[in-house]
Amino acid sequence: MRIHVVDHPLVAHKLTTLRDRRTDSATFRRLADELVTLLAYEATRDVRTEQVDIDTPVTTTTGVKLSYPRPLVVPILRAGVGMLDGMIRLLPSAEVGFIGMVRDEETLTASTYANRLPADLSGRQVYVVDPMLATGGTLVAAIRELIGRGADDVTAVVLLAAPEGVETMERELAGAPVTVVAAAVDERLNENGYIVPGLGDAGDRLYGTS
Ligand code: URA
Repeated sequence: MRIHVVDHPLVAHKLTTLRDRRTDSATFRRLADELVTLLAYEATRDVRTEQVDIDTPVTTTTGVKLSYPRPLVVPILRAGVGMLDGMIRLLPSAEVGFIGMVRDEETLTASTYANRLPADLSGRQVYVVDPMLATGGTLVAAIRELIGRGADDVTAVVLLAAPEGVETMERELAGAPVTVVAAAVDERLNENGYIVPGLGDAGDRLYGTS
């Protein structure tokens, strides 16, 4: 597993406003969407392409287009859905699958309550999106499911990561074809499993619930 923290002033600017407790849900949603698009640009650096010949109005030349099978984008329900539009803005032909995972707030372990994924992901590139890489339990479980179905290149796109979660992923997914792309790696997790300084509960802030 490798991690790529996107170092860009626009990413830092948008992330700062997302962290601010005074940012309302509508602004949070819009900024999260913009931030995901910037992360998606970095996350798709190794998206598979093939060479094609085309006619321009002037001449014939070669270019590239995305290869088949198209990449699969998988938001983890609920909060990952807030990142879907930002991803498919740059990958409009991607297929979309869903995994619903919930974290027990006491044990902090993740369990699956919904699974709408293609049965066979052999040879597929997958972009799994979830805003917060906290303990890493949810992402490890989701990525194991994807690799178990044959995915051979998985990129997790997250807004924020905790060092504890990164460590868990490195340990549990050692040697697996996995990349994490994040806007920042924060200081730590607190005793309730929240990222510090973080941005609070990403799902609640996206959807205006608490
Ligand atoms: N999930 C969240 O939404 N926020 C955190 O800080 C950790 C997990």
